[in-house]
Amino acid sequence: MLFPDYRPRRLRQNENFRRMIRETRLSVDDLILPLFSVEGKRIRNPIPSMPGHYQLSVDNIVKEARAARDLGIPAVMVFGIPDKKDAMATSAHAKDGIVQKTVRALKDKVKDLVVITDVCLCEYTDHGHCGVVQDRVIDNDATLELLAKTALSHAQAGADMVAPSDMMDGRVAEIRDALDENGFESTPIMSYAAKYCSAFYYPFRQAAESAPKFGDRRTYQMDPANSLEAIREVTMDVEEGADIIMVKPALPYLDIICRVREEIDLPVAAYNVSGEFAMIKAADKLGWLDGRQVMMESLIAIRRAGADMILTYFAKEAARELASR
Ligand code: PBG
Repeated sequence: MLFPDYRPRRLRQNENFRRMIRETRLSVDDLILPLFSVEGKRIRNPIPSMPGHYQLSVDNIVKEARAARDLGIPAVMVFGIPDKKDAMATSAHAKDGIVQKTVRALKDKVKDLVVITDVCLCEYTDHGHCGVVQDRVIDNDATLELLAKTALSHAQAGADMVAPSDMMDGRVAEIRDALDENGFESTPIMSYAAKYCSAFYYPFRQAAESAPKFGDRRTYQMDPANSLEAIREVTMDVEEGADIIMVKPALPYLDIICRVREEIDLPVAAYNVSGEFAMIKAADKLGWLDGRQVMMESLIAIRRAGADMILTYFAKEAARELASR
């Protein structure tokens, strides 16, 4: 394959040739829209670092979910922001907790939409950590039962899939058992399997009011320097019963998505997180790059790396863009 016998430019001459040899596609089928649910009525609090995203009360989240569904987006991921927080995250598994109420409303009012729930404690604990704290240490095993209770309460409210994002060891097995023992053997688990301790979550923590009050998440989320460890984490979750495994964040971790795709035969999700979204929006606002083009390039890059589905705050914009082509 040497010049001048081979000329790669031959098949780049026009858009039809380019379409014919395109190796990766992005479809609306690949997109999952994250949503933030708060108590109250008619609430629509803009999230400053995430333009176009809001903390929404249940009435408004129903409208937003319908709009996503009407654009062809197959699924949403629900995050809850409760009124009350305490040391044991009691509101995370309350029957009338914010996620539980939201899920019931969505399942009741929006047809043909998969409702996934984020299972974690950080939005519900007064200290902001993803697990139970004893003497300023996050207690893994004491957290498992609460996570399982939370996941079960989401399933009981009607969640189509639960997604643990806490990064405690052993939580997928614990959640799988709790679901199975209570008749939810058909409810799949999307595990945040390789979740890094990332500064790219900053806007999300504003949105979800979930920043830790002391210390950081380095004792449970992964070190950004590691990739073999991601394979161990993912393998563990597969063996514990995960149905979909996730890599998070996405753009700075395309190598991890690629490795996980090669090693694991389950569907792979990537979370294009809040900071990735905020950077593009900020640069677009400054006129420093074309946000729409960078969005589409980013999403196709995540697909090319091997993700089957992408959780992204761009879901609605990308769906509109895809529909217009
Ligand atoms: C909860 C959770 C976080 C995100 C998803 N689930 C934040 C964190 O770990 O602090 C981040 C999502 C994003 O940045 O878009 N544990």
